[in-house]
Amino acid sequence: MKVVAFVAALLPLLRLVVLGWLDELGANPIEVITRSTGTWTMVLLWIALAITPVRHVTGWHQLVDLRRMAGLFAAFYGLLHLMTYVWFDQFFDWMAIGRDILKRPFITVGVAALLLMIPLAATSTDRWQRRLGTRGWLRLHRLAYPAALLAALHFVWLVKRDLTEPLVYAGILALLLVSRVPIALRRRARRAKVVRR
Ligand code: HEM
Repeated sequence: MKVVAFVAALLPLLRLVVLGWLDELGANPIEVITRSTGTWTMVLLWIALAITPVRHVTGWHQLVDLRRMAGLFAAFYGLLHLMTYVWFDQFFDWMAIGRDILKRPFITVGVAALLLMIPLAATSTDRWQRRLGTRGWLRLHRLAYPAALLAALHFVWLVKRDLTEPLVYAGILALLLVSRVPIALRRRARRAKVVRR
């Protein structure tokens, strides 16, 4: 399952490489690459967040093995998305990039979302989990939710006309957040029972 997921997660990148090689990225290749990497960052982050609720509903506990991979690939596509912007869109003009971050709210929240995702990717290993302790690690990894909220806002803000797609992502995120409530309540009840014993 892990091998299939790994190969599947690389397909969007492979598609861009092949289309670029064949000179088939269209009239505005930078836009195509920015949009594709942005979309896949979002999809993979949403998949990472969906794994716990889906696991609770279906009882398919092996899915947890894929959560780390989805999160790491989300950060990977996020960095490719950032690189496309810094390199091909702004040509490493750090002043222009700084101005963009300060003046264009959709860029500000995009950067904030990615900044929140980086420590999560960096501490995703078992070693970091042991170092932070399970509760500390879980607390840190709850940052995935504000990161996703900022990413949804980034998408809503950047779209000029048809808001359907960003609102679908925002709606799924709202459902994922709501689905965490019974899981959190069950965990709290279990912890209270252990303390009472
Ligand atoms: C360093 C941070 C980021 C920068 C500088 C950035 C910049 C951009 C830019 C310039 C665009 C194209 C806007 C347009 O077409 O007018 C874009 C689109 C997009 N970005 Fe970001 N972004 C960042 C972080 C993120 C993150 C963390 C996510 C998701 C988790 C994300 C998801 C998207 C999506 C979904 C799109 C639109 C794709 C589409 O049009 O279908 N971005 N971003």
